[in-house]
Amino acid sequence: MAIVLNEIYEVEITGMNHDGNGVTRIEGEVVFVKGALTGEVLKIRINKKYKSVYWAEILQILKTCKERVNAVCDVYNSCGGCKLQHLSYEGQLKFKRELVFNALNRIAKANIDSEMVRPVKGMRKPYNYRNKAILFAGEEAGKVVLRFKEEASNKLAPESCSFLFPEKVNLFLKKLEQLFSKHEVAVEDALLGVMVRYSSYMDKIQLVIIAKNQFVRDTDLLISDLKNTCSNIAGIGLAMHKDNKAADMFSIYRGVEIVFGSKYLEEKIGEKVYRLSPASFFQVNTEQTKILYDCVKEFAALNSEDIVLDAYCGTGTIGIYAADKAAKLIGIDVVEEAIKDAKYNAVANELVADYYKGKVEDILPKLLKEGLMPTVVILDPPRKGCDKKMLKALKQLAPNNILYVSCDPSTLARDIKILFEYGYKLIKIQPVDMFPQTTHVECIIMMTNSGSKGK
Ligand SMILES: C[S@@+](CC[C@H](N)C(=O)[O-])C[C@H]1O[C@@H](n2cnc3c(N)ncnc32)[C@H](O)[C@@H]1O
Repeated sequence: MAIVLNEIYEVEITGMNHDGNGVTRIEGEVVFVKGALTGEVLKIRINKKYKSVYWAEILQILKTCKERVNAVCDVYNSCGGCKLQHLSYEGQLKFKRELVFNALNRIAKANIDSEMVRPVKGMRKPYNYRNKAILFAGEEAGKVVLRFKEEASNKLAPESCSFLFPEKVNLFLKKLEQLFSKHEVAVEDALLGVMVRYSSYMDKIQLVIIAKNQFVRDTDLLISDLKNTCSNIAGIGLAMHKDNKAADMFSIYRGVEIVFGSKYLEEKIGEKVYRLSPASFFQVNTEQTKILYDCVKEFAALNSEDIVLDAYCGTGTIGIYAADKAAKLIGIDVVEEAIKDAKYNAVANELVADYYKGKVEDILPKLLKEGLMPTVVILDPPRKGCDKKMLKALKQLAPNNILYVSCDPSTLARDIKILFEYGYKLIKIQPVDMFPQTTHVECIIMMTNSGSKGK
């Protein structure tokens, strides 16, 4: 019998998918149930079929999972930013460990035991951890508001989020909304949104106003009001948006003009201090970054003979942290500002390093031709993982060890499968929770060249 849309069924949830939805089967068909947890018995209604999967909503919980908790946020169900607030934090860490284990066995065919994936390193207080916010501007009752957009929608979330950013950032965003309103900034014509980054080391905020073409009107007054009212601003940048489209909101602030204070924010991880430009990547969870980098350093166990390649280096953070005892450090990143920051950061932290601006997949084959022979390679690519051309160059470089830092277990597993073919073996796997309450997980993998297929 086929599943019937809008029909009500009683089901048991047998697992959760990578996006945190409960999974069950009816008549052999896969059904995803939003907000459901493993082990729960539920009355559900089938809402839709998308591709080969049915989607359902919970009507009644007949048997509750003991890990179910009340979400702390009032807009949790509509916002879509967090997906695991209804699961205890301990449950979240177990879920994330399984995500990594499943990706490695199903996609990379790693054939590992579950114990090989170490327990996820979590946070003591898994809220208010995010140091960077990119928010959209809107108007509500004649006032400017700065919010996330609702999941899969162009609508702003009904409330500001108070559980993601540090309290100081929440207060700053409130002030910012008030000042935009006071200066009658017209959202429609003048304001797309803002990027705010907070340094706990400086206790200061980096602000980029992402403006539409009519923003110019009151800029000077607004900026002076901002710096007079908010004493903790390190610098204010203005990024003019050419065509007023929200699509490239996340990269527009690369062309930022500094209108007040410093272009840079400084953050400290362990003993290292890093300079960060607005366009440079920096891990969003400062507290957990130390745990992540400590683990990379421990796994890499570098000595004074090692030559280290920090691919996808951003502002040079991981390499500078882990390779301060190495013979040589080389970094590559595609963002020009990040490379400038990396060069500055290496000198500031008393390291000799060479940095190259460009795509790793383009630069690496050139460095290979020039005779570069790293003993250890650190990979920390964006979510989409490594380019195949880059992995091929890595095969020829044949470093002894590869440290792969990833924020997406599925692309990590896809790339690892290729590294298996190149003769690398999985040695250590440590997930770290950089993104509590969401389904995302960071993972550090250490691989060693078995010498069987390299070169
Ligand atoms: C996840 S971040 C890691 C940055 C750094 N390792 C850190 O921990 O702060 C990924 C970095 O890869 C860079 N990137 C993205 N695609 C790239 C490519 N094809 N070649 C070089 N860098 C790239 C981004 O600019 C970003 O800085």
